[in-house]
Amino acid sequence: MRLATIRHLLISVTTCVLLNALGAAAQQDQVTTTVIDILSSNPEFSLFLRVLQRNQLIPYINQLENITLIAPINSAFAESTSNTLETFSLDDLNRYIVSQPLSSNHTPGLYIYQSKAYENDRDTDHSSTYTSPISFEVHENKKLRLNNVTVVEKDLYAETQNSYVQGTVATFNHILSLEESLKRIPHSGKFHKLVESSSSSSSLTNKTVLLFTNSASPFNDHQIKYLSDGKYGKEDSKYIFNSLLLPGYIGGVGEFTVKDMNGFEVQISSSSSLISVNSTIRASVSNIIATDGIIHVFDTHEIVQSIEFNVLKTLVGLGCAAFVDELLFQDLGYLLTDNSLKQTIFHTKDSDESSDVAAAAQDEVELLSRGENLYHFVKDMNHEDFHDLNTTLVTTRYCSSKKLGSKDHCQRLKVGRLDEDSFVINNNIIVQSQPVTVGATSIYIIDEDLRVPHDLVSAVNPLFDCSRSLEYLHRLNLHRLPNHENGYTYFLPCFKSLENWELTLKYLESTTGSLMAAMKGIVMEDLLYSDYSEGDDFNSTNLLGDTVMLSDFELNETNLEFAYNDIHVSLNRLDDVIFDQGVAHPVDTFLIPDNLKIQNTDILTAFDTVLFQKYLSFFPRLSAMVNDHSLLVPSGLSLSKFQFEKNTTLEQLLHVHILPRESTLKILNCGVETQDIRTLNPKVNLTCSSPANHDTFITVKGDNDIGNRVRILKKGCVSNDHDICIFEIDKPIEADSGHFHVSLPGTAFAIGILLGSLSMVFILLCLMMVVARTKGVFTANSDTENNNATGTAVVDANTVLTGSTVDERTSLLVHSENGFEHGYSGMSNTDPISMQRPAKVDFAV
Ligand SMILES: *[C@@H]1O[C@H](CO)[C@@H](O)[C@H](O)[C@H]1NC(C)=O
Ligand SMILES: *[C@@H]1O[C@H](CO)[C@@H](O)[C@H](O)[C@H]1NC(C)=O
Ligand SMILES: *[C@@H]1O[C@H](CO)[C@@H](O)[C@H](O)[C@H]1NC(C)=O
Ligand SMILES: *[C@@H]1O[C@H](CO)[C@@H](O)[C@H](O)[C@H]1NC(C)=O
Ligand SMILES: *[C@@H]1O[C@H](CO)[C@@H](O)[C@H](O)[C@H]1NC(C)=O
Ligand SMILES: *[C@@H]1O[C@H](CO)[C@@H](O)[C@H](O)[C@H]1NC(C)=O
Ligand SMILES: *[C@@H]1O[C@H](CO)[C@@H](O)[C@H](O)[C@H]1NC(C)=O
Ligand SMILES: *[C@@H]1O[C@H](CO)[C@@H](O)[C@H](O)[C@H]1NC(C)=O
Ligand SMILES: *[C@@H]1O[C@H](CO)[C@@H](O)[C@H](O)[C@H]1NC(C)=O
Repeated sequence: MRLATIRHLLISVTTCVLLNALGAAAQQDQVTTTVIDILSSNPEFSLFLRVLQRNQLIPYINQLENITLIAPINSAFAESTSNTLETFSLDDLNRYIVSQPLSSNHTPGLYIYQSKAYENDRDTDHSSTYTSPISFEVHENKKLRLNNVTVVEKDLYAETQNSYVQGTVATFNHILSLEESLKRIPHSGKFHKLVESSSSSSSLTNKTVLLFTNSASPFNDHQIKYLSDGKYGKEDSKYIFNSLLLPGYIGGVGEFTVKDMNGFEVQISSSSSLISVNSTIRASVSNIIATDGIIHVFDTHEIVQSIEFNVLKTLVGLGCAAFVDELLFQDLGYLLTDNSLKQTIFHTKDSDESSDVAAAAQDEVELLSRGENLYHFVKDMNHEDFHDLNTTLVTTRYCSSKKLGSKDHCQRLKVGRLDEDSFVINNNIIVQSQPVTVGATSIYIIDEDLRVPHDLVSAVNPLFDCSRSLEYLHRLNLHRLPNHENGYTYFLPCFKSLENWELTLKYLESTTGSLMAAMKGIVMEDLLYSDYSEGDDFNSTNLLGDTVMLSDFELNETNLEFAYNDIHVSLNRLDDVIFDQGVAHPVDTFLIPDNLKIQNTDILTAFDTVLFQKYLSFFPRLSAMVNDHSLLVPSGLSLSKFQFEKNTTLEQLLHVHILPRESTLKILNCGVETQDIRTLNPKVNLTCSSPANHDTFITVKGDNDIGNRVRILKKGCVSNDHDICIFEIDKPIEADSGHFHVSLPGTAFAIGILLGSLSMVFILLCLMMVVARTKGVFTANSDTENNNATGTAVVDANTVLTGSTVDERTSLLVHSENGFEHGYSGMSNTDPISMQRPAKVDFAV
């Protein structure tokens, strides 16, 4: 029993001693565990340990306390070259060390810590110490991620140094610098433009960046372009960029109040992995780690400081920086900085600066005067005011007292709408772009340079057909006038307005000073645009110094109508021609000045009328009438073919060529409807026709013989009333065919009847053949005029006529009967006359 007890005792003692010794050994082991011990005891760290050994970093690690060492496991080095393993320096190592023991016992969340400080070898000039941010992410399930790298060997505690080793699956080699990281973030082009243009500001290191994505950018293209303009946009882009830049590393869970690089306070808070700015603006991606910074990405424009855009900034952004340069140089900056100014600006983009030579060459040419630059500004109207207008004259800021007068006369600009989205300015430049608005100002970028209107001649659209008037003005040197304090308005006879004045002009041209007076009369020494809406009558003067009275204004959408010295004038509102000294209106009237008295007798001197005048002079009664009546004046040659045996015959002829005033307009407006045109001979009316509006023909009313038509060659009126005009015709009007048959006396009369009847039948037969061919012509006229005419001659003749309808025959006979009637009643109180008419005789034979 004793022996057994002793044995038992011994066993227990040894067990006890052994256990104690073992326990003590275990205790001793734990107490002396170092970071290196952990690395060496875990084969996963063998590569990392070797790197540390090769670079003699073991002693450095051994003397650290209260740290976390981030140790990449062997597989993390798989892709590293041996070179990187050899050159792992102390500075490199420091990036893997957080000066704080961190374990998964930490409250879940993402936290930002900093690595130990290290020397930066990136810029050798002034090597300074840096730290890198390290994100430490603890999940609810105690899983860890460091700098977004999974930790596989976690919470290895080195008690001796109160430090943790966290084994990660990757090195930090993939972490880039802040600058590089920013570039890698997708959809951030606009942010980068901003960075570029503010490059001179704070260096991009040791910073937290609040990056906005393109979709979050509150800036449109031209605003971005402005911000990236090195000259004008620098301050603003610097300001915006600095407001997105926070010093140091801000991120992770917590509440931070920091000042941005502009010095304004910003609240950063986060309870989850996404941070918020000022507790309302949430990031879409947070805590992107770079070697020297942290990036938070925002998809909302709220993150971007708003800056006020004005016209200047917008113009720069729209590519008109050179224009802005000029305006500022010309002290016109006030037009660009006041957003409450209601105005519209038309300007072209600066020319491409790609080729310096071209740019330099252009700089010399393109510098515009202050006035010319001001012409690009439309006062008091922006695009909304244009929208509903079809055509309008707007006022620019170019108010040249020299050219247009000192008052409030500013050069106008014509805006004509083409369609919904486009319009044309000054009949010349098509604007199709949408306006850019800033404040109350609208800006249109146009393709062609808008120039101050030039002189009259180059401003007038050739379509107006004013070349003749312009030529006169040019010849008389009236197209350039000395600058007048009130500007000038030209009433340019255009279109076909001079047609009625051809003979008049011939006279004016042949008479010294007359043409000058006439052309001076069309220039008024005041400005009258076709949008004159005040409607007040006013008096002005023309270049001759005569007063002109303008009254009875009526303005509607398309026309401005008024009386100019009692002459009715209608201006089409589309037609104003803006030129440097005023405005010209193409009008269809020739506003002959009142003081320029022109008479028929003057006009008769302008062409070959010697014979006509001589004939007139035989009859003092007729001569006295010349200036109160319109005249049909046959050309001299055609008149000379006539020989008059009796003066009465001549007088009869002249009577048909002298028309009362009321007849004049009927000829001028010929072609509308055939009207009776009265002559001095109460028995003879004329009609006129203007087929296809080319030539105007006159015939004796009722005479359908086309051969008897006379053609109007030229016209010449004496006044704007158009009630007295001279018409040059190609041959005399033959009063009527009956005259000489009925005027023959005695037996000759009987023979005449016989011959007459025979020739009548013969002529009728001939005519019948003509009628058969040109049936339409005759029926058209006869149906309306002579349906109810009857006579014995008709019945007799009917027996002779065959092969045609009664109507046609009737009409033909009625014409001849009318001729007889004239002969008897109209001429009965005058001596019988005979008249040789070669042309007619030829025809009859
Ligand atoms: C480590 O932490 C302990 C306790 O928190 C402290 O007493 C000690 O001074 C620290 N060591 C270093 C080197 O900071
Ligand atoms: C980084 O920025 C923070 C905050 O401005 C500053 O306190 C710290 O000294 C900077 N670190 C370095 C290495 O410049
Ligand atoms: C972390 O890494 C994952 C993929 O490895 C990536 O999708 C994510 O964006 C990263 N997060 C940050 C904050 O870098
Ligand atoms: C945050 O708030 C401060 C002051 O309240 C303000 O100055 C700053 O502009 C705000 N930041 C952003 C991005 O809204
Ligand atoms: C502009 O012209 C169109 C068609 O010609 C017309 O319908 C419209 O009423 C005009 N508007 C104005 C403001 O004159
Ligand atoms: C224009 O002049 C005429 C005659 O000189 C005068 O009767 C008339 O009142 C004036 N009209 C205006 C609007 O001044
Ligand atoms: C404007 O007046 C002119 C001339 O009186 C007329 O021909 C035209 O039809 C009018 N236009 C409108 C839109 O009333
Ligand atoms: C017509 O009258 C003029 C002037 O009275 C005269 O010279 C001329 O001889 C007359 N002619 C005839 C044919 O009687
Ligand atoms: C001439 O025309 C007028 C109307 O203009 C008419 O009164 C007159 O009777 C006509 N005379 C003849 C001869 O047809």
